Amino acid sequence: MEMMRISIHRRLLCSVYKVVLRSYVNSCRAVLLPRFGGPEVLQVHSDVPVPDLKPNEVLVRSRAVSINPLDTRMRSGYGRSIFEPLLPIILGRDVSGEVAAIGASVRSLVVGQEVFGALHPTAIRGTYTDYAILPENEVTAKPSSLSHVEASAIPFAALTAWRALKSTARISEGQRILVVGGGGAVGFSAIQLAVAAGCHVATTCGRESVDRMLKAGAEQAVDYVAEVVDVELAIRGKFDVVLDTIGVPETERYGINFLKRGGHYMTLQGEAASLADNYGLAIGLPLAKGAELKKQIKYRYSHGIEYSWTYMRADFEGLIEIRKLCDAGRLKIPVDKTFPITQVKDAHVAKDKKIIPGKVVLELS
Ligand SMILES: NC(=O)c1ccc[n+]([C@@H]2O[C@H](COP(=O)([O-])OP(=O)(O)OC[C@H]3O[C@@H](n4cnc5c(N)ncnc54)[C@H](OP(=O)(O)O)[C@@H]3O)[C@@H](O)[C@H]2O)c1
Repeated sequence: MEMMRISIHRRLLCSVYKVVLRSYVNSCRAVLLPRFGGPEVLQVHSDVPVPDLKPNEVLVRSRAVSINPLDTRMRSGYGRSIFEPLLPIILGRDVSGEVAAIGASVRSLVVGQEVFGALHPTAIRGTYTDYAILPENEVTAKPSSLSHVEASAIPFAALTAWRALKSTARISEGQRILVVGGGGAVGFSAIQLAVAAGCHVATTCGRESVDRMLKAGAEQAVDYVAEVVDVELAIRGKFDVVLDTIGVPETERYGINFLKRGGHYMTLQGEAASLADNYGLAIGLPLAKGAELKKQIKYRYSHGIEYSWTYMRADFEGLIEIRKLCDAGRLKIPVDKTFPITQVKDAHVAKDKKIIPGKVVLELS
């Protein structure tokens, strides 16, 4: 009875809060992308409309949003086949903040709760805004051990790694995993997820990243710059799974050669978006399916392995597991630098010019 009263009370509070909120958050600050181009095209506006929430949606007061390579690529025109007709759009996938309002059917969250999450790759209204809107299944309680800045660095990258290793390759304890490009956010997440699953992990990364890889539990970390000629000789043994975050012809060739028969090669550099951009959605997407299928057949016959293009996808259970790993101290992505959201152009310049190699986070106060 008491529980029921609390729950009714909570719901009432939420609906009152929503009404109050609707009356003053009709618009908010956001970074708009009015056309594709360099960092200079980004515009900070103070009065961008906040749409009404759908029943399954959550309004998040953003405190920190991280920059993913997808943001800078979208800004330059990647995904134009989807996004061009919808400009201006708001960039950004990751967010950490507080729940400001919930849609009528949302059950897992309450107003005021600290949350983190990531939008799926094709979402139109991104997170570079004071008030982000995410479906309930793309947001959950923030890891209590992490700050908003730290939390915002995690969901998109970790969910990409989660989908590849857990949903596609279905890794299991004792397997050998090779992560090509462990120094990046997705690669480093993959190493930590695989180690937590009881796998044996090897990786390639830049010299600066080697110690971080070994501390995270990788058994071998090969410096791809120093070992440029011998990277294939330096990596020891055969693997059950290769996750290639770089996905150039050279890494694909050696990644596939390192697999045992029955193993699984996955690349993050699938061509669906670029083919759709070049030929339009109607022709580009079937072309992409055909190109992937051709490689799948080729490698099945030549090497006896599975081959996939892997993409980030919302996964509510995955996000909850990721939070638990963060709170257990088993998953973290270092943040190299933060910028206030008003300096978003400088932050994009820093990423484009590779001035800051690691994670960059935009703060919203
Ligand atoms: N398909 C999808 O849905 C999806 C989702 C997320 C990301 N992605 C793509 O996956 C890639 C990685 O994303 P991210 O968020 O992890 O990027 P990130 O954090 O910017 O990481 C990039 C890192 O890759 C490492 N690297 C570069 N060239 C390398 C090579 N030849 N061998 C080994 N390591 C190399 C570098 O690490 P060091 O510092 O160690 O040199 C660099 O810091 C990006 O291209 C991104 O667009 C795709």
